[in-house]
Amino acid sequence: MEGLRIKLDYNNVMKEFTGEHGLIQENFENLSEKIEKAKKLIEEKRKKGMLEWMELPYSQRETAKEIIQYAEEKRKETEAFIILGIGGSALGPMAVQQALNHPYYNELPREKRGGFPRLYIADNIDPERLTGLFDIIEPSKCIFNVISKSGSTSETMSQFMIIREIIRKAIGDEKLKDHIVFTTSGEKGSLIKIAEEEGYRAFLIPEGVGGRFSQLSPVGLLPAAFCGIDIMELLQGAAFMDTVCKNQNEFENPAYMYAIISYLVMAQGKNISVLMPYSDQLKYIADWYVQLWAESLGKRLDNDGKQVNLGPTPLKALGVTDQHSQLQLFVEGPFDKLITFMAVKNHQKDLIIPKIYEDIPSLGFLGGKSCSSFINTQKTATEYALTKAGRINMTIELPEVSPFTIGQVLFFFEVAVSFMGELMNIDAFNQPGVEESKNASYAMFGRPGYEEKKKELDAKPHKKEEYIL
Ligand code: PA5
Repeated sequence: MEGLRIKLDYNNVMKEFTGEHGLIQENFENLSEKIEKAKKLIEEKRKKGMLEWMELPYSQRETAKEIIQYAEEKRKETEAFIILGIGGSALGPMAVQQALNHPYYNELPREKRGGFPRLYIADNIDPERLTGLFDIIEPSKCIFNVISKSGSTSETMSQFMIIREIIRKAIGDEKLKDHIVFTTSGEKGSLIKIAEEEGYRAFLIPEGVGGRFSQLSPVGLLPAAFCGIDIMELLQGAAFMDTVCKNQNEFENPAYMYAIISYLVMAQGKNISVLMPYSDQLKYIADWYVQLWAESLGKRLDNDGKQVNLGPTPLKALGVTDQHSQLQLFVEGPFDKLITFMAVKNHQKDLIIPKIYEDIPSLGFLGGKSCSSFINTQKTATEYALTKAGRINMTIELPEVSPFTIGQVLFFFEVAVSFMGELMNIDAFNQPGVEESKNASYAMFGRPGYEEKKKELDAKPHKKEEYIL
């Protein structure tokens, strides 16, 4: 197992490698009081059961078995598995699918997909995309997985209501329950009530687990199992990372160290946190990370009620692609970024560039090189260029991309963001900032109970024509 452990390399964060913008040992020492407090808080909160997401690698083993059985029963008759969900209810499944299945999975003929259904993730209420979905699926041969922890998110509920009608008209009321499955809270929201009344199968998200921390619950496990991903291994990988992250010495705990460095550099004004995987498989891990980081850490108030308006801005980039897009800014722009590369040591597939055009110097040197060595060399070269330009950077290296290492990656970032939250003295598990726009949209849509908000909106200053060009 140790050979499959993901590693954090933070050499290029240190002054001895990066120069004046780097950190020195003293920076860590000066933070020791806060670090010790954060460790204690995590430990205490976990003991009190307040960090239920941390227990998912263990608590979900039985659920995972049920999920596998359900997926096996339903898979044969399912051509496509469709997720209706948004935010934490969509980004994790997307990241895991992209990481662990074929890059053109949906386009493969069924037998080349191992007999598993296609996967679509409808994570927006965009009318073009939602309408378009029905041009490529046959509802009577699909499973629609409505994922919503709160069981009340308007976008997801609207999708469900639209799709329920379409299927009902196509195949009749009695068969609805063969095509709809819910993943939701067992206690709150409308979905669980509808499931009981209309007889849909529902997989439950443990009550204390919030959306962006829910990938290792049925939110992520059910779609992954339907698409043939080894969900037991995902859980094993996360459990393995949990043991690694139980180490109370921050210099041996990669997630704590990631958070400490992020905190220290944020305090120095490096407020942008770039995640740049050098692997298309990890592309959507960066999307998942952006939500995890932004929603967890961008906060107005600290835990003492003081207005702090804190939070690093997460940014996603993809190596090598974004070397030709964002890298110029990273190397020469403001010193406001911490760049984290993700690298894969052993790519499972490879291609060799043929030895042709040997007499053309700009092409000849490429002959005989592999794509995997090319992408990894590009990463090393970019790391060098950034470090030379005094830009702090770290690398998370995956020995390979597999369910076991992806389980580790998910758990690693979740621990890191929680630890960072404690260092910042903010609540990493709420998202009060998204409420205002939700409430405003309810008011505009005429939801009962939002009459006062409607009045408030009506009273807001009208936009001036002169500012609209
Ligand atoms: O992380 C979160 O809690 C949010 O991003 C939610 O996942 C998102 O708002 C969707 O919520 P729900 O799953 O309740 O529909």
